[in-house]
Amino acid sequence: MTCDLLIRNIKGLVQVREKFAGPVCGSAMANLPILSDAYLTVSSGLISGYGPMHELSASIRPAATIDASGRFVFPSFVDSHTHLVFAASREEEFVMKLQGATYEEIAVRGGGILNSAKKLQQLSEDELFERSIGRAWEIIRSGTGAVEIKSGYGLTVQDELKMLRVARRIGLETPLTVKTTFLGAHAVPKETSKADYIDLVLNEMIPAVAAEKLAEYIDVFCEQGFFTPEETEQIVEQGKAYGMKPRIHANQLHRSGGVQVGVKTGALSVDHLENIGEEEIDLLRDTLVMPTALPGAAFFLGLPFPPARRMMEAGLPLAIASDYNPGSSPTGNMPLMIALACIKMKMTPEEAINAATLNTAYSLELDDTVGSVTLGKKANLFITKPMPSLAYLPYAYGSNLIESVVLNGNLI
Ligand code: NIG
Ligand code: FE
Repeated sequence: MTCDLLIRNIKGLVQVREKFAGPVCGSAMANLPILSDAYLTVSSGLISGYGPMHELSASIRPAATIDASGRFVFPSFVDSHTHLVFAASREEEFVMKLQGATYEEIAVRGGGILNSAKKLQQLSEDELFERSIGRAWEIIRSGTGAVEIKSGYGLTVQDELKMLRVARRIGLETPLTVKTTFLGAHAVPKETSKADYIDLVLNEMIPAVAAEKLAEYIDVFCEQGFFTPEETEQIVEQGKAYGMKPRIHANQLHRSGGVQVGVKTGALSVDHLENIGEEEIDLLRDTLVMPTALPGAAFFLGLPFPPARRMMEAGLPLAIASDYNPGSSPTGNMPLMIALACIKMKMTPEEAINAATLNTAYSLELDDTVGSVTLGKKANLFITKPMPSLAYLPYAYGSNLIESVVLNGNLI
């Protein structure tokens, strides 16, 4: 028997599921199946076998072998919410925030999203790609294998298209699996009235994005000072008419009605949720909408964290993503997101890992190909440095514990 790669003596093979499609909900999130003293084989880029070491056939002839003694093997993280195509960092606003300015005050002064848009509009598509590709490689090295990337710093027809083309190109020129989201309704440009801008989003941007097949999804920043629930509904319904499914920025700064409009429009996910209460939790029950926490943004902006324990108690699934962007979460490091979920949201390591693998895969409609160690899924994996236990990963949150990465069966 041959295979392309054999990983042997794995201390713990994490997230092993015989068959898996669908979200992990409520109390089931505490269960993370781990196989001890295991092997795993890869053939043609896919997971072709795994099991306990004592069952490893002596006749196996791997083209390459990795000894993972003392190490854990994980399925790659799936990061279901990023804005990693952007022109430049915004640490000057970070310093303003340290001196007391709020996210909204900075936005009103023309900082924030409009600041990012001004810089991005000046770049060619190639320049924007060059500025963004390093971030893609950075998240690969920190364990991410599949990622969603949003537009929303273009805010003109041509610049939104430029962003989405760059996001698509990242999917072609790296081993990342990339899904893209059109977020034209991220902010209203200064020189335009809101009504005119919404008109542009509805009647020019959405048709142009659809014509080039540049986005699977549509998103709106549903928030006071940005877009109302009514405007959000109108925009995502138009996106749906053009074949894009909704995922929504909801309840970040206020109880803005974002969850309600997400449920009403059948969104795949409602993301942020720093400001939700029992009413929103109730509404999400028995829906297919994935509630998604972005702990990096709550941490960076000093916002309350979503009530994760309460949500799981209510039987909801929960996903965790990075929100990698220059304004509210300048990192796409998923191990850090897991540590924050544990430390600030009181999730167990098992719950947080389910949230950042299978549940994000589900919300990106990728759970049939990634998100768990399952026969036939993509061999998207990372191998840790030697670790005493699974909980060591979020515990030692300042250490880089990822030793090697395998994507599509290839060692990176
Ligand atoms: O998800 N909240 C809206 N959008 C981003 C931040 C955008 C920015 O500040 O550049 C977020 O936090
Ligand atoms: Fe975001």
